[in-house]
Amino acid sequence: MSKPIYVLSGPNLNLLGVREPEIYGHQTLDDVKRLCEARASAFGCTVVFRQSNHEGELVDWIQEARTEASALVINPAAYGHTSIAILDGLKMLSVPVIECHLSNPASRETFRRKTYVSLAATGVVSGFGAASYELAVEAAAGLARKAK
Ligand code: DQA
Repeated sequence: MSKPIYVLSGPNLNLLGVREPEIYGHQTLDDVKRLCEARASAFGCTVVFRQSNHEGELVDWIQEARTEASALVINPAAYGHTSIAILDGLKMLSVPVIECHLSNPASRETFRRKTYVSLAATGVVSGFGAASYELAVEAAAGLARKAK
């Protein structure tokens, strides 16, 4: 049995569906989880899907992914723009890292244009709403298969 793809989501994404739906859409994080599971399964993979509002908890899970994951998809949310701790954690991974955002941060406020996570990401998917996660999982599955 191959290792799962870790799909991690950062702060405030637990309120997806009610949080600024005009930007982030009407789907809940549970809906996104189901989409990720379905897309992973289509590629013969499984996902470990987690969300936290706490930077340290995300760092713990990133460290766990070093040995337990075949690839990591992360929507760091606001921490992407601020967290060197998350960047440093990601830099220790040897598996593919896909950064993902529901919105397109590059088209929004200037403070969203830089993400530290991008410095450690194999690739970035943003701007497609919940489909960003599905596309990221698909990319992660393909990269994980190639890396075997
Ligand atoms: C986000 C974009 C970030 O700028 C923001 O802080 C989020 C969500 C996205 O998915 O579009 O919380 O990562």
